[in-house]
Amino acid sequence: MKEEILPAEGKLGILMPGLGAVATTFIAGVEAIKKELASPIGSLTQMGSLRLGKRTENRYPKIKDFVPLASLNDIVFGGWDLYKDNVYEAAMHAKVLDAHLLLSIKEELSAIEPMTAVFDKSYVYNLDGENVKTGATKYDLALQVMEDIKNFQETNNCSRVVMVWCGSTEKYIQEAPVHATIESFEAGLKDNDPLIAPSMIYAYAAIHMGVPFANGAPNLTCDIPALVELAKETKTPIGGKDFKTGQTLMKTILAPGLQARALGIHGWFSTNILGNRDGLVLDHPDNFKTKEVSKLGVLEDILQPNLNPELYGDLYHKIRINYYPPHGDNKESWDNIDIFGWLGYKMQIKINFLCKDSILAAPIVLDLALFLDLAKRAQMSGIQEWLSFYFKSPQTAPELDAMHDIFKQLMKLQNTLRHIMGEDLITHLGLDYYQELVEAL
Ligand SMILES: NC(=O)c1ccc[n+]([C@@H]2O[C@H](COP(=O)([O-])OP(=O)(O)OC[C@H]3O[C@@H](n4cnc5c(N)ncnc54)[C@H](O)[C@@H]3O)[C@@H](O)[C@H]2O)c1
Repeated sequence: MKEEILPAEGKLGILMPGLGAVATTFIAGVEAIKKELASPIGSLTQMGSLRLGKRTENRYPKIKDFVPLASLNDIVFGGWDLYKDNVYEAAMHAKVLDAHLLLSIKEELSAIEPMTAVFDKSYVYNLDGENVKTGATKYDLALQVMEDIKNFQETNNCSRVVMVWCGSTEKYIQEAPVHATIESFEAGLKDNDPLIAPSMIYAYAAIHMGVPFANGAPNLTCDIPALVELAKETKTPIGGKDFKTGQTLMKTILAPGLQARALGIHGWFSTNILGNRDGLVLDHPDNFKTKEVSKLGVLEDILQPNLNPELYGDLYHKIRINYYPPHGDNKESWDNIDIFGWLGYKMQIKINFLCKDSILAAPIVLDLALFLDLAKRAQMSGIQEWLSFYFKSPQTAPELDAMHDIFKQLMKLQNTLRHIMGEDLITHLGLDYYQELVEAL
């Protein structure tokens, strides 16, 4: 059944708390693509295609031609940051894109000034900025964010708005009673409960207004019962957590292959060095803990040691992140994987990924924003598990384990698009048309 999908008419506002390396690389990228100075490489919504029907039908439309997505020309950007730099200055500071490219879109980027942030240093120890809101309670701050969203939407004449958290990783917070219901959460906002982090205040404001929300960092943010309940009430699509880039991307590509061939793994040691502001924030143990928890779950789900104790029961999985300023945004990761095969014979795999973190993250921001806007127009609300493809630590219903295998995630994403467009789902069984082909011979 084809679902009712409202058309992508008018302008789409993409609002980001955190205008740092990822957000500015994303905004600059879209502006450069609009001017045909570059291509949207890495973005499934812009470059990916999917198969429809039987293999014999040869139907492989581009995703953007198959589902009604907002056009890049209709996007308007905005955001908040505790630093006053406009997006051009912040992009120059981040040093991801070359100055020559940034100069050619300077006018568009300089026009985007950050709104004052909801920020509290006790959640991100290593940052200090002045562009920060004040208010007696966290509830007042949430109302100010709602006002910001409303003003942005009116000033820019947007028919729809989505929000993607691109702010720093906050300190580790565990789910607590204050996060349990909308009532306890709102009481906590009014009581300035320390277990309500700034990212939750933005998420609350967005979801309260029906603005789709995605969380690109490993913070809990909207992954708490109160905000899931609110999302259902306001019919808002949400998703998280933590953009799947770099080392975890590699892990979720490689591990399913090893597991598929029943190869055993004794150990997987992953280390990273990075020197951007994200690296500085993660240099603090409380912020690193949030990231570590997000990265650790991946192998457990893919390898299922409980089903295969002789292959994965003794797996030692270790992750390290080290702040190393000379590398800037050029993160370098090493993986040492100790595997074993036939009769227990040992082998090793070494991966040295010289990656550019924000170059991998920017297309994810674009796809998440466009797909969440599609989900809202298709009347889908609550946790959008079909967007797990983009996350290190996908948010799921509480009774479900997250699915990390990137190939299963892709199949789920593509089948969801087929489903909402009323096309047949693809199982890759193919027996029916094999029979037809054989009979035709
Ligand atoms: N770069 C990647 O590949 C990648 C991958 C996965 C997740 N992430 C996450 O995405 C986020 C952004 O990464 P980045 O490399 O752009 O980091 P960054 O440090 O360059 O940018 C983050 C920005 O957020 C701002 N900020 C922090 N708290 C804020 C708040 N409460 N309100 C408004 N602004 C706030 C900071 O001032 C900074 O400018 C981080 O949490 C990072 O862990 C990044």
